[in-house]
Amino acid sequence: MEASRRDFLEYSIGALGMMAAVGAAYPILKSLGPNAATSLQSKVSYDISQFKPLELRVTSWKGFPTFVMKLPDPFTWDGPQRNNKYKNHNRDIIGNHNVYALIGVCTHLGCIPLWKPDGSHSISPSNIPVFHCPCHGSIYTPWGDNILGPAPLPLGVPPQNLNGNTLEIGTAGFVKKFWDPYT
Ligand code: FES
Repeated sequence: MEASRRDFLEYSIGALGMMAAVGAAYPILKSLGPNAATSLQSKVSYDISQFKPLELRVTSWKGFPTFVMKLPDPFTWDGPQRNNKYKNHNRDIIGNHNVYALIGVCTHLGCIPLWKPDGSHSISPSNIPVFHCPCHGSIYTPWGDNILGPAPLPLGVPPQNLNGNTLEIGTAGFVKKFWDPYT
């Protein structure tokens, strides 16, 4: 009898702990935007009809913070390059598409890079848009190619398809399979 009372207490405490964890996560998921309810799903649809050029929004795909962005069309970018085998890696995957999704996790130690559309950073030319990781200063191109700092690899790129004004993240389209630097 004593053992079953202890079991009951342990289960109750465990259940309360789980509820507290879900409660704590909810504001974070909510802040990710309208697709947060599907954040752990393998397919997420994102309406890009209201996006302005150089705008970035954040959603979640398979639990990853995921950037959805729109570049001007046409768009030229004259920033520095890192001359290694990953030079223009993501840019080649994404091709000419000016709306696309990237995994928002720095490949150095996992911080979330910040989007700097107005070029408020320390590299030259100073007005080019880049991602800047606030933790140790890695810089990525708008396509997520790492060009400066300790990040060893480009950002992840989920499979994705553009269907009218809907970016379908997790659906094989102009990006057919997940470029996953974390595995
Ligand atoms: S975690 Fe991004 S530079 Fe270290």
